[in-house]
Amino acid sequence: MSNQRASDELNRRNSVFDNTLRPSQFSDFVGQDKIRDRLMLAVEAAKMRGETLDHVLFSGPPGLGKTTLSYILGEAMGVRVKTTSGPVLSKPGDLAGLLTSLEPGDIVFIDEIHRMAKTVEEYLYSAMEDFAIDIMIDQGPNARSVRLDLPRFTLVGATTRIGLIAAPLRARFGLVNRLDYYRAEQLADIVEKSAAKLGVGVERGGAMEIARRSRGTPRIANNLLRRVRDYAQIRADNIITGKVAVDSLALLEIEEDGLDEMDVRILETICVKFGGGPVGLGTIAVSVGEEPDTIEEAYEPFLIMNGYIERTQKGRVATQKAFAKLGMGSGSLPLWNNQ
Ligand SMILES: Nc1ncnc2c1ncn2[C@@H]1O[C@H](COP(=O)(O)OP(=O)(O)OP(=O)(O)O)[C@@H](O)[C@H]1O
Ligand SMILES: [Mg+2]
Repeated sequence: MSNQRASDELNRRNSVFDNTLRPSQFSDFVGQDKIRDRLMLAVEAAKMRGETLDHVLFSGPPGLGKTTLSYILGEAMGVRVKTTSGPVLSKPGDLAGLLTSLEPGDIVFIDEIHRMAKTVEEYLYSAMEDFAIDIMIDQGPNARSVRLDLPRFTLVGATTRIGLIAAPLRARFGLVNRLDYYRAEQLADIVEKSAAKLGVGVERGGAMEIARRSRGTPRIANNLLRRVRDYAQIRADNIITGKVAVDSLALLEIEEDGLDEMDVRILETICVKFGGGPVGLGTIAVSVGEEPDTIEEAYEPFLIMNGYIERTQKGRVATQKAFAKLGMGSGSLPLWNNQ
């Protein structure tokens, strides 16, 4: 529970930072090309037909642009975005209040939609499908339900845990988008755009140094940029060159490969405790004290993409790169891994 509160607090702080650098148009949004193209097409088509946009779901690890894209959709459609989040929607009345205040075409953005109460979710089904909700009025023998028609609206949902979205809910979204980690070049582009907004100069080399340490994540890239900017302003004429970036990131003790503490713990579990694997997901989860879904959806994709672990039928196995990262020579690799 305190974990949850800590992460809520982290989210709140993130969102204050995020807003200043958040792109507001598709043209400023870097990467995720397929998703962007698909959304731009959907927006154009909806506008041409004078219809509301289909319901949209975004999934993917934190900081990759789910909230950003939701607001961009609002801008592009020229509609209001009414924001709420799963944990806030604890009873059907919370949702009814929101939905009955909508104007035609509005976007309802539900962040962390996987944390919505089950009873609310069932209400949402008819709202999404029939643009109507049945509300119970009165109690006891007089209790009866009244059907309320809603204006047509677009539901945009965001989740870091697609595995926790029930099939019936998922099926009601017309556009389902899974965001991927960014390549270093794309993150460097983001760093350059953000630097311009923050009024600090950055050379490509400096942007790349920041990008490489950002764990494939724009939010981390922006956060590192802010820290490096301080250093550049005070010690380096307000220009982030490659050297300025390297020096300041070293001062901040940011590791070169961008792995975070949990990444390292996962690698240690596989390499040290289990001799390189194969280890089952559940075992790793218990060992590092995190939920299996979170490991599978937030950590593993990055470690696999960067060649630290591999997924086999028998479980997760560490690669040479993982052993090297932990300062363990390949001599300690198990036999099967040396083939
Ligand atoms: N493709 C992008 N181009 C430029 N900036 C981006 C991009 N994606 C994300 N950002 C930046 O990263 C920050 C974090 O993105 P955002 O808040 O959209 O992430 P999120 O996926 O909603 O994360 P969470 O799961 O934590 O809510 C934004 O403020 C924005 O500045
Ligand atoms: Mg978000």
